[in-house]
Amino acid sequence: MIFQDVFKEYLVIDYLKNINLKQLAKNIKTARKSHNGVSISNLGGWQSEAIVPPNIISVDKELNDSFKQIQNVVNIIADKINLADNVYLKNFWFNINNKFESNAIHHHLHFMSKNIISGVFYVDYPKDSGEIVFCNSNDVRGALYDMSTIKKYNEYNSQNWKVKPETGKFLLFPTYLKHYVEPSRINKDRISIAFNFGYI
Ligand SMILES: [Fe+2]
Repeated sequence: MIFQDVFKEYLVIDYLKNINLKQLAKNIKTARKSHNGVSISNLGGWQSEAIVPPNIISVDKELNDSFKQIQNVVNIIADKINLADNVYLKNFWFNINNKFESNAIHHHLHFMSKNIISGVFYVDYPKDSGEIVFCNSNDVRGALYDMSTIKKYNEYNSQNWKVKPETGKFLLFPTYLKHYVEPSRINKDRISIAFNFGYI
């Protein structure tokens, strides 16, 4: 018998090391004061405009060091999924959510963007400020599998995949993978940086 996995998805989890995240959080809160922000996936909260390197990144040590570490892991993924060429940071943006604020379901695939690997890292994640939920691209899976037809959820039968953020944690996933952020349940700033890697 051959039991073959087909059409696999990946979700890579890792942690930033030796980054002054408190300083980075402070810098982002300062940036918020002079930028109105945009309304894209955020339901409330503040989302900065997309920033294209080398803007800011070349002068912000924490951002620069963070993306260097993330690039190393992106390279491993690129190798694993057989990308034809190197991928680089295309853009990133800051998010600050507070109580009841969330992000609606979305993906990062935009026409002609050449984004391939997307992700997020948590600069400050206060407990209960909203988990991230990934959604299977096949959205009829949930109609087939529920607690009346399966014993336990796993990667073959889940419609949604929830991940608990932590300060310093970063996640990498295919650009087309849909996700949303649950509403924060507490009155503290949840600060994250979302980004895309792709062909330049
Ligand atoms: Fe996103």
